[in-house]
Amino acid sequence: MVRINNSYDLNHWLLVLFFLAQLCIFVSSSDASEIQTLLKFKSFLSNDTALDNWNNSTNPCNGTTNIWSGLYCEKNGKVYGLKLQNMGLMGIIDIDTLLGLCALRSISIMNNNFEGPLPSLNKLGALIGVYLSNNQFTGEMQDNAFEGMSSLKKIYLDGNEFSGKIPKSLAALSKLSELGLQGNQFSGKIPNFAQSPNGWKYFNISNNRFEGRIPASLSNLEASAFTGNLGLCGKPLAPCKSSKKKILLIIAIVVVSIAAILCTMVAILFIRRHSAKSKQEARAQKKLKAQHHTAAMEVQLTADEDNYKKAEKGGELYFVRKDRGFELEELLRAPAEVLGSGSFGSSYKAGLLSGSMVVKRFRQINQVGKEDFYDHMRRLGRLSHPNLLPLVAFYYRKEEKLLVHDFVANGSLASHLHVKREPGQPGLDWPTRLMIIKGVSRGLGYLYKEFPGLTVPHGHLKSSNVLLDHNFNPLLAEYALTPVINRDHAQKFMVAYKSPEFSHTEQTSKKTDVWSLGILIFEMLTGKFPANYLQQGKRANADLAAWVNSVVREEWTGEVFDKNMKGTKNGEGEMLKLLKIGMCCCESSVEGRWDWREVVDKIEELKERDSEEEYSSYASDGDMGSSRAMTDDDFSFSVNA
Ligand SMILES: *[C@@H]1O[C@H](CO)[C@@H](O)[C@H](O)[C@H]1NC(C)=O
Ligand SMILES: *[C@@H]1O[C@H](CO)[C@@H](O)[C@H](O)[C@H]1NC(C)=O
Ligand SMILES: *[C@@H]1O[C@H](CO)[C@@H](O)[C@H](O)[C@H]1NC(C)=O
Ligand SMILES: *[C@@H]1O[C@H](CO)[C@@H](O)[C@H](O)[C@H]1NC(C)=O
Ligand SMILES: *[C@@H]1O[C@H](CO)[C@@H](O)[C@H](O)[C@H]1NC(C)=O
Repeated sequence: MVRINNSYDLNHWLLVLFFLAQLCIFVSSSDASEIQTLLKFKSFLSNDTALDNWNNSTNPCNGTTNIWSGLYCEKNGKVYGLKLQNMGLMGIIDIDTLLGLCALRSISIMNNNFEGPLPSLNKLGALIGVYLSNNQFTGEMQDNAFEGMSSLKKIYLDGNEFSGKIPKSLAALSKLSELGLQGNQFSGKIPNFAQSPNGWKYFNISNNRFEGRIPASLSNLEASAFTGNLGLCGKPLAPCKSSKKKILLIIAIVVVSIAAILCTMVAILFIRRHSAKSKQEARAQKKLKAQHHTAAMEVQLTADEDNYKKAEKGGELYFVRKDRGFELEELLRAPAEVLGSGSFGSSYKAGLLSGSMVVKRFRQINQVGKEDFYDHMRRLGRLSHPNLLPLVAFYYRKEEKLLVHDFVANGSLASHLHVKREPGQPGLDWPTRLMIIKGVSRGLGYLYKEFPGLTVPHGHLKSSNVLLDHNFNPLLAEYALTPVINRDHAQKFMVAYKSPEFSHTEQTSKKTDVWSLGILIFEMLTGKFPANYLQQGKRANADLAAWVNSVVREEWTGEVFDKNMKGTKNGEGEMLKLLKIGMCCCESSVEGRWDWREVVDKIEELKERDSEEEYSSYASDGDMGSSRAMTDDDFSFSVNA
């Protein structure tokens, strides 16, 4: 009698019993039972003429010699291996029957015609070798397909049509030293095998659909073990493209495409203007184009409309101004014209009965949730200033936002400054430019007052965001959006993030919008386009700095002012004052740069014409003649500091 004292002993005895069972000692070992088992196994097979000598007139084994074909026998006459190879066999591998062969350690059914899923081999926990090569097995394997087969050393599944991932239970086999999976449809990543590295006698997973990086533990194997898997990389195959490189590649593609789009837009703009030979012709063309765009836009908007209909509840226009009212449907149905596509999305002009509206589509406004977005938009809706383009309504969806503004007839400051004119067609004259810059400065001052909590209350101040009404009164657009625009996107595109402080310290300051205003002043006085606005990233800053420097240099040569600017007679002194203000705004060190209040005040003081004494003083010695004469020191502002 065995006394079992505690659970340790119990476990121990269960283990011993299991082990003995595997050795067929406790199983009644009559040959008769093996004969019946094998004949039953055979009965599930078809086209089995190769097994004709499997009959009950003889024993399967005489000692280690097999009497029946396709068997390996042990000394004690037990079957330890089935080697049913090249026999044209078909039918079912009945694993449950094979449980009757207690000595069975190896199964080979290579080069037959078996079909269907992997047989449930894991019922035969003692198997050491499994050879299923070159049949027609198909399908994915269960993750536990090899669970409990801790003795398994060799698995050959090659030349079938298995698919899916390598089962976890296979990768976990700790004694595995031969694995042939080549010529299947396996996919996914190569798992980290549990068996010790360098322990492979055979490893081949070629000609499958594996992907990803080859684990380091397999990198010393022959490349031919991995070939024919298009998605695999890393030693011994070609190195993987790192994800960093991939991201860089994607960024590069995006940058190039955006640049291409911008170039096309600029080109179209120039071509349009250039071809407008006379006002009449231009009008006729405009009409034509409007019709053309209307057709194109209708297609676009119909598609959008479908999207809107799919949008969740609350997908309607929200009016921040009570004096307007129209339905989203009305807006979508209205004849529309593409105005252009900026760094945030496209904008359209929609002709409503109540007046034309501009709809701007933003795709990069996800910095805040819906409630914060609504709050911020309501706040924008409460703003009221003669130099701000009022927000009329907005539309919220997770992926896309629409902001609706009044249409401003006279285009942007950028278009007036930079679009090619026919000879003799005058550019904006000095009094108009002065009026515009005063309006811009007032609008900016208002934003500073209204948004004391915002570091950059405008954030995107540039000539294309200054719109002009029929009186050339300027209206700031795209203001106060930094709290809601995705940070990455903002940093790539918005003017504030091209400032010297952002490129040096990755931070904007309360004086960043002042810097943008300075650039705008330079642009207005010189008529030159800070071309780098079209570029992204930090290099743009260096270019802008170089441009500012060149303006400062040219000032000395007297060539700085825009040749197309008329009405400068008797105003040069004031123009120089404005240039000086621009310089104080563009001072690269934030401490040295003027505060917005000072800038607004100084711009407010400017006049169209020099006062008598100032003018005579300027004319006599070329100095600005203001209370504070220009000295070398004044030009020592270092853009790159
Ligand atoms: C059994 O096998 C032997 C030898 O392989 C053969 O001679 C005999 O005819 C077979 N008997 C039957 C009933 O199939
Ligand atoms: C052998 O098989 C035949 C027919 O299947 C059966 O009649 C006979 O009893 C069997 N003999 C032995 C020894 O099992
Ligand atoms: C079994 O093998 C032994 C020797 O290897 C031989 O003497 C004996 O005749 C064989 N028995 C049968 C039934 O074939
Ligand atoms: C049946 O088996 C024979 C060999 O024993 C093989 O030549 C033949 O192709 C097989 N038939 C089928 C349909 O697999
Ligand atoms: C892997 O299998 C393929 C296809 O059968 C063969 O060409 C290649 O030589 C094998 N490589 C190794 C290392 O066994």
